[in-house]
Amino acid sequence: MKLSNIPAQIGKLSLFITEYAQDMALYARYCGISPMQKGRKKAFYKIMIETHAIEKGLSLANPRHLFGREKINHIMRMVRSYGIGSDEIPVTMAVGALETYLQRHRDLGLADPLLDAIEAFLAERKAASAAGGTGGLRFFPEGKPAVAPEPAGLLLNRFSCRMFEKAPLDRGKIADIVHLAQTAPSQCNRQATRLHYYDDPAKVRELLALQGGSAGFLDDVPGLFVVAFDLAAWGGAQQRNQGYVDGSLFAMTLMLAAQAHGAVTCPLNLAIRHSTERRIKAAGGIPGDQRLVMMIAIGTAQAHDLKAAASPRRETSEVLDFASGHAAADVVPA
Ligand SMILES: Cc1cc2nc3c(=O)[nH]c(=O)nc-3n(C[C@H](O)[C@H](O)[C@H](O)COP(=O)(O)O)c2cc1C
Repeated sequence: MKLSNIPAQIGKLSLFITEYAQDMALYARYCGISPMQKGRKKAFYKIMIETHAIEKGLSLANPRHLFGREKINHIMRMVRSYGIGSDEIPVTMAVGALETYLQRHRDLGLADPLLDAIEAFLAERKAASAAGGTGGLRFFPEGKPAVAPEPAGLLLNRFSCRMFEKAPLDRGKIADIVHLAQTAPSQCNRQATRLHYYDDPAKVRELLALQGGSAGFLDDVPGLFVVAFDLAAWGGAQQRNQGYVDGSLFAMTLMLAAQAHGAVTCPLNLAIRHSTERRIKAAGGIPGDQRLVMMIAIGTAQAHDLKAAASPRRETSEVLDFASGHAAADVVPA
């Protein structure tokens, strides 16, 4: 390296420190455990997250009787403090999920103080608001409906499936699905996303045990992708997160491609520490110069009595901002 280049190199390297430090500062300031984040905003997400765990439990093939007791009590406490009469989605979702939970357990002829507490909670809710619940389950007694031919049908019919037929998909079909998913866009057409596929039951189980978000259905997953990307495709501090952007776009396209081929998927998070990432790479034979984005369970939907979590969506107006261009009060210009 020429001596005259050294200041430029130091400048480039120091960008890593300043850019990562700003990531950290922003994250620490606004994330869901920050004491500086608004309490109501944190409660909004907390209720959604905890309620979804109950919906998910209900959508399993054989949910444990009275599962999630502590979580349910916590949800009811959080909703009461959020406002039991609110018609915002965390509350309607919690109400729907608890209605389904109660119904299922009463149908089984079970009695328990938890069920009485849910009943009292739902009566309190009814007195406070006439709006119905949105969370709970979607039922498909005749199996998954055929994919509607129009493009919107492909999107509208997708859901995270956690009840699979035992047999994995034919590897030819897996290759066809991945081929179709390669239509995904990528920055400068880098195509740095890598798909690692496993259908050996012991390996799938080993990998899912490290993932942690599939408890309750990890023995039922017939096929598993680990979505990764090549670090070598990215350089400079500014690009540090771009492999995750491309990887996520690929993952979504993959799930829709699977749907187009009549298969079902469940995205699975890899919100893990570096030590677990290394263990997954070792177990999966994934090269050290790749980073992991997420996992995707894939297979054929259970043919009968299929259930899925309702996962209701927020109002479009809450998600879409026809922006005025005026800076929000908390944005500090650089
Ligand atoms: C990145 C990502 C990670 C996810 N991780 C998990 C997981 O670990 N376990 C799980 O059961 N579902 C997981 N999900 C599925 C979500 O719960 C699901 O997408 C959401 O509730 C919306 O429901 P839908 O996919 O049926 O429309 C994940 C979804 C995404 C996008």
